[in-house]
Amino acid sequence: MMVNGTPQHTRRPRPYGLRVLPRLAKNPPEFFLETLHERGDLVELNLGPARLLLVHHPDHVRHVLQENWRTYGKGSMWVAIRKLVGNGLLGSEGQHWLQQRRLMQPAFHRQKLAALASTMTTTIAAMLDDWNSAARADKPVEVAQAMADLTMQIIVRTMFGASIDSAETRDLGQAFARALRLMNVRMWTFFLPDSIPLPGDRAFREAINHIDSAVYRFITQRRQNPTTENDLLNLLLEARDEETGAHMTDQQVRDEVFTIFLAGHETTATVMSWVWYVLDQYPDVQRRLHAELDSVLVGRLPTLESLSRLNYTRMLIEETMRFYPPSWMIPRSVEADDTIGALPVKKGTTVLISPYVVHRHPDFWENPATFDPERFAAGQNVPRHAYIPFGEGPRLCIGNNFAMMEMQLILAMVAQAFRLSLQPGINIRPTTMPVLRPNQPLHMNLQVRTRPVSNATWLMATETGEYQLVPEHERIDTDRD
Ligand code: HEM
Repeated sequence: MMVNGTPQHTRRPRPYGLRVLPRLAKNPPEFFLETLHERGDLVELNLGPARLLLVHHPDHVRHVLQENWRTYGKGSMWVAIRKLVGNGLLGSEGQHWLQQRRLMQPAFHRQKLAALASTMTTTIAAMLDDWNSAARADKPVEVAQAMADLTMQIIVRTMFGASIDSAETRDLGQAFARALRLMNVRMWTFFLPDSIPLPGDRAFREAINHIDSAVYRFITQRRQNPTTENDLLNLLLEARDEETGAHMTDQQVRDEVFTIFLAGHETTATVMSWVWYVLDQYPDVQRRLHAELDSVLVGRLPTLESLSRLNYTRMLIEETMRFYPPSWMIPRSVEADDTIGALPVKKGTTVLISPYVVHRHPDFWENPATFDPERFAAGQNVPRHAYIPFGEGPRLCIGNNFAMMEMQLILAMVAQAFRLSLQPGINIRPTTMPVLRPNQPLHMNLQVRTRPVSNATWLMATETGEYQLVPEHERIDTDRD
């Protein structure tokens, strides 16, 4: 793998003007990539009042997100998001962010997350149950929606554990998805003041009130009757500032619950949608995946221990995130005059880092347009700061271990049970609203894979919460509504 790449442009690059708007509007990530090839590592866009600086070189990425991160704030895009998540981690800044990050970091430690694996597994198994019925009836599944529903259920259940039943999980998931859709309207009309009402404002408030009342109820119940549950809510309630000993207030916990819902489901759902798509497109990759799953798991459910041996499964997810990073653009606002490389940057400039471009930088990735999970095999040098699906520096995604564990479990369990193939005539390309996702529904046919264990046709939860393989005639519905 080539790792050279001294940043180009020590002189001020020629900026793009308004004439590029049609190219930008047509396909933003591809246009950004073209700017790398046309003008180099630092590219200015002067689009009327909007002055943007595109930062493509890994050294500059490190400067903005890591070394000099205090100079680069989150900017105005987060105003609309704060209406939903309040002062939660994702959109907050300064001292409040630092304090919250310190409080929450331990909850996302790999060891704490291990306790959430069984909740994830149970939720995935319930979906597989539905897919089994669909497969028998020869019915296709729309996998993008199925992944969105699944990851929403996982995040709600890992948050509230046994306190929440299936009906309420679904209800909360739907209310949150509604609030998110309505929030996007405000996000893309950010130039309009709040005093101008928009259709959907009332429905947005109603959805938030609905979720608020449930979340505050769970918080109150848990404070009154503490449990030893290993769910995220308990981890948030137990979190304590090392210096002051202070816990979070109810309002802070509520904001972080909303933040985790927001940050933690659409991203993973999108990666998983792309994974099913690439498996359909690259039969050799699919064959290698199935071979690994069959030899490591031998028909059993994945555990944390077996996940560590499912190397190809991990490599496939990592390459999918290189190719299709859901957070395809990381914006920052310059808070004080600075210099990137040799380029002076004025306070108020908007800096855009696009993982989509950085992941395809030809000085750092060999044949970047080729999909190849081998890039992430053990012993390969993944170029530093050139692979940033979870961001970088102090604001690195706090849920990256959660997301990797969840995606590996979903991929292992689903691919163990089914082969998915895209229905003919569907042409997929990426679209960017709000994450980099397939531009249309992914209707896929399901084919049940032969299981390596001869008489076992299903995985079923036992009373102790463990799983075992049972013959079909002994299967009873355990985890259904
Ligand atoms: C494939 C899945 C995911 C991707 C690609 C992803 C990507 C990202 C990125 C790029 C950032 C940094 C944004 C910035 O610097 O402006 C971020 C931040 C964050 N993510 Fe994720 N994320 C994923 C899953 C999750 C999950 C599962 C959770 C929670 C369970 C989560 C919670 C957060 C939070 C709270 C932040 C804000 C951290 C801070 O500012 O201190 N993410 N994520």
